[in-house]
Amino acid sequence: MKIQIINGPNLNLLGVREPGIYGSDSFDSFLPKLRAQFPDAEIDYYQSNIEGELIDKMQKVGFSYDGIVLNAGAYTHTSVALHDCIRAIKSPVIEVHISNVHQREEFRHHSFISAACKGVICGFGLNSYTLAVEAITSQKD
Ligand code: DQA
Repeated sequence: MKIQIINGPNLNLLGVREPGIYGSDSFDSFLPKLRAQFPDAEIDYYQSNIEGELIDKMQKVGFSYDGIVLNAGAYTHTSVALHDCIRAIKSPVIEVHISNVHQREEFRHHSFISAACKGVICGFGLNSYTLAVEAITSQKD
């Protein structure tokens, strides 16, 4: 089973960026622990701050991977292009957020991508990614 994790803008700064909201672990330190929990899955990781690069990556993997875990960061709240991309590809996409966006500023309450995604997980810290991978792997069983 192949799973692609995609992180959008500013998520390269996890561990440094607003630790009170996003925690103090970097994604690089979290990823080996996540992989160890799913030894039967191949979990690839990609991060970009650029909207078009996120779309390029999703188009590349989105016809062959078993699932995509997408934290689109702030593009969640702005991007019709990401919505269209998710609809265009075949792999199921799980939208994730580290923080509970609904407890935060009003502009974070609307997602342009949720309606195109298989499901949404938010508010569990980095465990949101674990739950999303679990959702994809258990779907196949
Ligand atoms: C985020 C929430 C977004 O509103 C924000 O722009 C991010 C991170 C999260 O993981 O909680 O960059 O997607």
